[in-house]
Amino acid sequence: MNSAEIRASFINFFKEKEHTFIRSSSVVPIDDPTLLFTNAGMNQFKPIFLDKIKPNNLRAVNTQKCIRVSGKHNDLEEVGVDKFHHTFFEMLGNWSFGDYYKEEAIRWAWELFTEIWKLDKKRLWVTVFKDDDVAYDLWIKVTDIDPARVIRCGKKDNFWEMGETGPCGPCSEIHYFIGEDINQQDAKGVNHSDQYWELWNLVFIQNNRKSDGSLEDLPSKHVDTGAGLERIAAVMQAKTSNYDTDLFLPIIEELEKLTKIEYNRTPIPFRVIADHVRMLGFSIADGALPSNEGRGYVLRRILRRAARFGRELNLHEPFIYKLIDSLGNIMKESFPEINEKSSHIKNVLEAEEISFNRTLDRGLNHFEKIVDQLAGKTINGLDAFKLYDTYGFPLDLTQLMAKERGLEVDEDGFKISMNEQKNRARKKDQFQKDDDLLEWT
Ligand code: ALA
Repeated sequence: MNSAEIRASFINFFKEKEHTFIRSSSVVPIDDPTLLFTNAGMNQFKPIFLDKIKPNNLRAVNTQKCIRVSGKHNDLEEVGVDKFHHTFFEMLGNWSFGDYYKEEAIRWAWELFTEIWKLDKKRLWVTVFKDDDVAYDLWIKVTDIDPARVIRCGKKDNFWEMGETGPCGPCSEIHYFIGEDINQQDAKGVNHSDQYWELWNLVFIQNNRKSDGSLEDLPSKHVDTGAGLERIAAVMQAKTSNYDTDLFLPIIEELEKLTKIEYNRTPIPFRVIADHVRMLGFSIADGALPSNEGRGYVLRRILRRAARFGRELNLHEPFIYKLIDSLGNIMKESFPEINEKSSHIKNVLEAEEISFNRTLDRGLNHFEKIVDQLAGKTINGLDAFKLYDTYGFPLDLTQLMAKERGLEVDEDGFKISMNEQKNRARKKDQFQKDDDLLEWT
């Protein structure tokens, strides 16, 4: 199945079970100051879980555009280095709003995976929250999973929360072993080895985390599930990398054409750029813009990372915007907004790339100088700050480049330099105001 068929098959499966299809919400959350970006399918249903609004239908299905680059769920460090984490991804989900609960959620997930999509049961593992005997027993009772493949895990892995506050609850995850030799599996690898991919998370929403950190019971119990389309596409297309699926490959091929370099020769920059163009394309389509603070600065950081990885492929002219047509083409059936807004997205990207290109090469030279003169393994805060202030290198870009050389950055020192500069600016501002006053009096 191609990715569009997988997406449709998921949605149809749940429509047949009386779920209403709800469109993805924007990646820029509306009316939720607790989030910079939509990080899960359930975000748009938060007011229903909190009993602030009543749903029109008690069952829903959708595919949600998600971005995980800040806050509680942040996968940025993994992107490109591994083959299955992304800044932007699609989350397939089904929901029960106070309707069905654990039994149906578990039974249907297993049915879709093993009967409709025919995933190999000998590669599937399930985790449940350590105290959740009900979920544990249901897996054994309502599915034909080998009981040795059901593992109890602690709060870190099996209690899902959307952020510092908000609806949450124990969860049960389905993992898939992607290794070559199915005899080499071990329960200890689940959640610990990158040979085991989490494909689907079934969350049993029953609590609300309040701002003082305490948990309260919600008036009703709900189901919130999330399955990663990119990983499922990889597994169903017999790949061991999301980047080899039809969701990424056309972007990578376009990049091969632009660079005349083969993906396999140096995969990491290709992966990072293919990932980042999706995040940038979708966030700009949904109204975000690069800027110096908050959400806009996340976009700027992502774009600057992509531009710097472009240098590794000898791309010195703006190029990210040239990948938008390819993204639009991949997404046209489910998310026509990329094609509809493509000229706006390209204009924003190109302008931002031009502006960073003015200082990027000089910044890279300066970084080399710092590394050459470095005694020890830590780049000092002032140097990192100069890269930021003079050359526009976000701290995390300098940290990434340092990490590639086995070095680190003194983050506290960077913050001190940053604060000093802010204080200087504030004082200057004050003088300016005093001068202005003098002129007027
Ligand atoms: N909300 C759950 C998650 O994001 C399904 O994993």
